[in-house]
Amino acid sequence: MTTTTTNVPVTGAVGTSYTRVEGRDKVTGAARYAGDVPFAELAHGWLVLSTIARGRVLSVESDTVRAMPGVLTVLHHGNAPRVDGDYMGMLGRPDPIVEVFQHDHVPFVGWPVALVVAETSEQAREAAEALVVHYEEEPHDVEFSSAHPGIYTPDGSLVEKGDLAAGLAASAHLVDEEYTTPEEHHSSMEPHAAMARWDNGRLEVVDSNQGSTWVAQELAKLFSLDPDSVRVRSEHVGGAFGSKGVRVTQILAVMAATALDRPVRVVMTRRQMFSLVGYRSPTAQRVRLGADADGRLRALDHQAHSLTSTVHEFVEGSAGFARPMYASDAHRSVNRVVRLDVPTPTFMRAPGEAPGSFAMESALDELAERCGLDPIALRARNEPDVGPVSGLPFGSRNLLACFEEGARRFGWADRDPRPGLRRDGRWLLGTGVAAATFPVIVMPSTAAVTAEADGTFTVRITASDVGTGARTALTLLAAETLDVPGERVHVRIGDSDFGPAAISGGSMGTRSWGWAVTAAARDLREQLALGGDIPPQGITVRSDTSAAVGTLAERERHSYGAQFAEVAVDITSGEVRVRRMLGIFAAGRIVNPLTARSQLVGGMTWGLSMALHEEAIRDRATGGHVGADLAGYHFAANADVPLIEADWVDDPDADDPVGIKGIGEIGIVGAAAAVANAVWHATGARHRHLPIRPDRVL
Ligand code: MOS
Repeated sequence: MTTTTTNVPVTGAVGTSYTRVEGRDKVTGAARYAGDVPFAELAHGWLVLSTIARGRVLSVESDTVRAMPGVLTVLHHGNAPRVDGDYMGMLGRPDPIVEVFQHDHVPFVGWPVALVVAETSEQAREAAEALVVHYEEEPHDVEFSSAHPGIYTPDGSLVEKGDLAAGLAASAHLVDEEYTTPEEHHSSMEPHAAMARWDNGRLEVVDSNQGSTWVAQELAKLFSLDPDSVRVRSEHVGGAFGSKGVRVTQILAVMAATALDRPVRVVMTRRQMFSLVGYRSPTAQRVRLGADADGRLRALDHQAHSLTSTVHEFVEGSAGFARPMYASDAHRSVNRVVRLDVPTPTFMRAPGEAPGSFAMESALDELAERCGLDPIALRARNEPDVGPVSGLPFGSRNLLACFEEGARRFGWADRDPRPGLRRDGRWLLGTGVAAATFPVIVMPSTAAVTAEADGTFTVRITASDVGTGARTALTLLAAETLDVPGERVHVRIGDSDFGPAAISGGSMGTRSWGWAVTAAARDLREQLALGGDIPPQGITVRSDTSAAVGTLAERERHSYGAQFAEVAVDITSGEVRVRRMLGIFAAGRIVNPLTARSQLVGGMTWGLSMALHEEAIRDRATGGHVGADLAGYHFAANADVPLIEADWVDDPDADDPVGIKGIGEIGIVGAAAAVANAVWHATGARHRHLPIRPDRVL
């Protein structure tokens, strides 16, 4: 696959490498983020968070700080505007944190207890740091373990097929191990920020989010407003990874703007993000695999445990990973959870699949060792004809094609399977492999495409480009459908006034929006083919994909991939260095190879980071984090990231008008297991607990 990086006029634009249409604006600072957009009379809110892990607020001593320079107001549970969080949102009942400042209860360290609003953000910060809050403290419990007495099985989280006990009993080879992953955080480069103001009876919010109609609709419900009277804009987003839905930034900006009747912006600090924007729960996962002498699975059991808060149930669905993956006579997968005095976790890149693949793909490597089989051969032996649990036909399944292409390019065929044999000075060397998968989802969307009188085209859709290159992909899709060069297409996104559209989440963005954009562009092209002049206001055609996506055939619809890693382990320090990674994916038709590769390499880098570095430590005494910042939370830096290559095999989705599946999250899936399996191959020691820190290696 070759890539070019100049934006030459092209027809058949899809599949052409195209630099980001807003790239220049981003690197020159012309692109304004939610925290940057100037507004007249803008006031600034600074959050004050609880210092106790459980209890209630007795008093907020706001009188003294009200007298400080520039301070306009102090909002807290005693005086904040009332909201109604008893509604059904896009993802069901909202996290009760939306009812911020509605009561005195404190359910975790870092719960918002006040917002200080001042003329400048420096004044707001100074006053916020001086604000005294008195609490009544209660005992708290933040200690996660799979043996916690509070563990329960939420409705719908158990899937069973066949006789597990019989399958295990009849197996020639068994694996029965526990794997753990720590609490992990998606601390996007751009912290959460929102500005709210009232403008002629309309509420306007300038935000950083993964879906502006989503946020607008929920704010309307929360504040009991007519949905048409709420407009949310979010043009540029500096990363999100699952964390940028409805957060206290938007809600508190609206409350303060309402209370003061002037524009107010609330920006989170890096530290505040650690308790306010969700994170990935720690997991403890027991995997039991039973296989025949030749490696055919008779029993597959995945019991995953994670935590949630006392106020809201979020389940990290790690055990779902194997459901579309491997044929087995008997299958059980279950996600269990425990409620602790911690913030509510949330979606974080490849929720479920990221930690689930670490456990399952590590266990398969252990099974391959026990069966005396090559790990790729073991997976091939358990390749299903239909969805192993669902029984549904696959949309397309090219997992083995990914392994074949990856093995060829990585040089897998020459590998000696025995561990601990390769040495390069003080380094032990090893290679590992793992599989990846992620669901293929589509959500109804609306779009409008306008043929302008000057010969250009304007696309309007409430898409969110969280850094993925979604706007550029939509430019290519519109250009191809209209059969014009990409330069003549202008895509406008991130404005709820453009109408409902899918969120940037679940890897569904480009597929969902692309469907709507190509539908409108196709109809427009047909209309233009009839001839006639374009009036000054242009000709606009709209699309709504609700009916089309609602009638899709039921299939086991997933993307797949194969991850390869080579590591070097320093026998004197225990340090693991990744030397190279290769990921080959079957993830639908690739719209823009340039940004697609970045997206996949980004995910793989995160997998490396997950394998070796990331770990948020919670202090049982205070209930809060130790080192809640990017110094204390260690993650891979450039020097840790070697040659990482991502590529793909041909895998168009037959049910999508363009063939798209989605590539947002699959890059991280399996990557940590490939690294861990390589560490075993290097050293002969299995690492079932992430991260693989030097002290665990020695
Ligand atoms: Mo993604 S974790 O669904 O934003």
